[in-house]
Amino acid sequence: MKAIIVCTSVSHGNTKRVADVMGQVLEAPVVAPEQADVAELAACDLVGFGSGIFLQKFHPNLSEFVRSLPKGEGRRAFVFATSGLPELPFRPFTRPLVRSLRQKGFEVDDTFSCRARDTWFPFKLVGGINNGRPGATDLAAARTFAEGLRARTGTPS
Ligand SMILES: Cc1cc2nc3c(=O)[nH]c(=O)nc-3n(C[C@H](O)[C@H](O)[C@H](O)COP(=O)(O)O)c2cc1C
Repeated sequence: MKAIIVCTSVSHGNTKRVADVMGQVLEAPVVAPEQADVAELAACDLVGFGSGIFLQKFHPNLSEFVRSLPKGEGRRAFVFATSGLPELPFRPFTRPLVRSLRQKGFEVDDTFSCRARDTWFPFKLVGGINNGRPGATDLAAARTFAEGLRARTGTPS
């Protein structure tokens, strides 16, 4: 199994920390959309897509990258996000990107999200919220998530 993770992490590097842990488990490089090679993606069995949440959405660099991709043709994918606020159970942050990927023909295996440091206004006024997150517990959850993917998709090669 060959995997790659495409990650936009522009605010505090929160999502990159999560991506790096997943990347270790899956033996997958973590690349920004601007660096991603579409041919390399096409050669992978599993592709991860993640970013922070900005105004309720994934970062536009990531969403636009997904929109620009050719058909996934049954390739497996997973989606992950970090955010300052919890998502509503009936409206997960990951849903729109999962839909876009499914429309492209990807089989989306699973999603992961966790809270992370947020200094966006008005939280900036109080020094931010979730300072120190993603912390050890969040990163352990990200590791467990990736181990589940690896168990389902196969050993990295
Ligand atoms: C301009 C801006 C808008 C944000 N909008 C939201 C939001 O709508 N909901 C939320 O839960 N967090 C929001 N956040 C917090 C980020 O999602 C959070 O800090 C995330 O972990 C950033 O990821 P990154 O450090 O990988 O870029 C926002 C942060 C910024 C800077």
